[in-house]
Amino acid sequence: TPAPVAATPPMGWNDWYTFFCDVNEQLVEQTADAMVSSGMRDAGYRYVNLDDCWAASTRDANGQLRADPTKFPHGMKAVADYVHARGLKLGIYEDVGTKTCAGYPGSYGHVQDDADTFASWGVDFVKVDWCNVPFNDFPGLSQQQVAVKLYTAYSQALKATGRPMFFSICEWDPKLQPWTWAPAISNMWRTSNDYGSQWSQTLANIDQEAPLAPYAGPGHWNDPDILMVGKMASDAESQAHFSAWAMLAAPLLAGNDLRNMSAATKAILTNREVIAIDQDRLGAQATRLTHTDAADVWIRTLANGDRAVMLLNRGDTTARISTTAQAAGLRSVGAYAVRDLWAHRTAESAGVIAASVPAHSAALYRVSPLKGEVDRYPPVTEVSVDP
Ligand code: DGJ
Repeated sequence: TPAPVAATPPMGWNDWYTFFCDVNEQLVEQTADAMVSSGMRDAGYRYVNLDDCWAASTRDANGQLRADPTKFPHGMKAVADYVHARGLKLGIYEDVGTKTCAGYPGSYGHVQDDADTFASWGVDFVKVDWCNVPFNDFPGLSQQQVAVKLYTAYSQALKATGRPMFFSICEWDPKLQPWTWAPAISNMWRTSNDYGSQWSQTLANIDQEAPLAPYAGPGHWNDPDILMVGKMASDAESQAHFSAWAMLAAPLLAGNDLRNMSAATKAILTNREVIAIDQDRLGAQATRLTHTDAADVWIRTLANGDRAVMLLNRGDTTARISTTAQAAGLRSVGAYAVRDLWAHRTAESAGVIAASVPAHSAALYRVSPLKGEVDRYPPVTEVSVDP
C-alpha cells in the first residue's frame, strides 16, 4: 500500500491570495526554488500548489484538460518534473461544477478523465472547488447531498488512478457542514468561506473551528484556509495566526510570495517548535478552554503527553491571560517545564501558565511535567490513518 499522504497536516504553499489568476510556470518554479533556499523545505514544507486559472479556457478536441499554453508553454508535466527534482510536490486545482470559480473548464462530466490527466502529469495534490454546480441535474437532493455525491465520485476517481494524490475538498459553504461527511472521502475540507488578512477575519476562522476538534485526525484535517502570514497588519498578528493554525492541526499552506519575504515572515513560517505542534503525530486538534471577546485559552494534547497551550489576546489592549497545567489536563506531583515556543526559552512553574500578552497577539507554550510526575505519558491510543 502507498504511504499515507496525510498522516500529519499538509505543508506547502498556494498561490491564490497573492497572485489570483496571475500564474505561470516561472512563478511555480521560482517558488519551488524559494521553498528550498529559504529553508522552508527543510522545515517540512513540500507542496507547491496552483489554484484557479492554470488551465486553457477550453478542453482539447478529445475533451481533455490542458494547461494554458501561454502561462505554461512546456506543459504541466514539465512543471511537475521541475518541482519533483527539488524534493517537492505539485498541487493543482479543479471544480466539481461545470466551470471553476474563475470560469475555466470544470470537471463536471469529466471527473475520471481529469483525475487520470492529473495522475499522468505527476500531480500530488488536488484541490476541488464548489462553483457553478448544476443543482438542477439533481432534483430532490439537498445541496449537501449533491456535495456528498459529487465529491465522493471525485474521491473514487482519484483513487482509481492508482497514484496517491492528496484530496482537498474546497466546499466553502459551512452551512453544508463538510466536517460531517468529508473525513470519509478526503484528506481536508474547508471550514469557512474565503477570508482575508484582517485580524477580525482570522479570529472568525479560529472561532469557526472551536467545536470541530472531534472531526480531525491523522488522514483527515479541518481546513481554516490558506495562511496569511506576512500579509497581516503586523508580525505579531502573523505570529498569532500561525500559532492558532498549529493548535488547530491545520494545513500550513503559506499564501505569501516566497520569493520576496521579510526575515520576520520567514522566521515565523520556519519556527520548528511551532511546526512540531502542528505536525504532532497524535493529530489531536486543540479545544478551547475559555473564551471572551478579549481573550481565549486553547489546549492541545500531544503524542508524548505534553500539552500545547495558546493564550490568545483577541483585543486591542495588552491583557494578562492565565490558566493552569491542571486545567490543561496535566496532573503532576511536582513542577512543570513551560517552554515558550516563540522566545525559545524554558521556565519552571508550579502550575500557573500566565503572560501579559500584547494586543492582537498570542503566547504559545509546550508544557511538560517535570520529574516526579505520575501521569507523564498517559496511554495514547493507536494512531490510525485513513482514508
Ligand atoms: C474559491 C476558493 O474558496 C478559493 O480558495 C479559490 O480556490 C478560488 N475559489 C479560486 O477561484
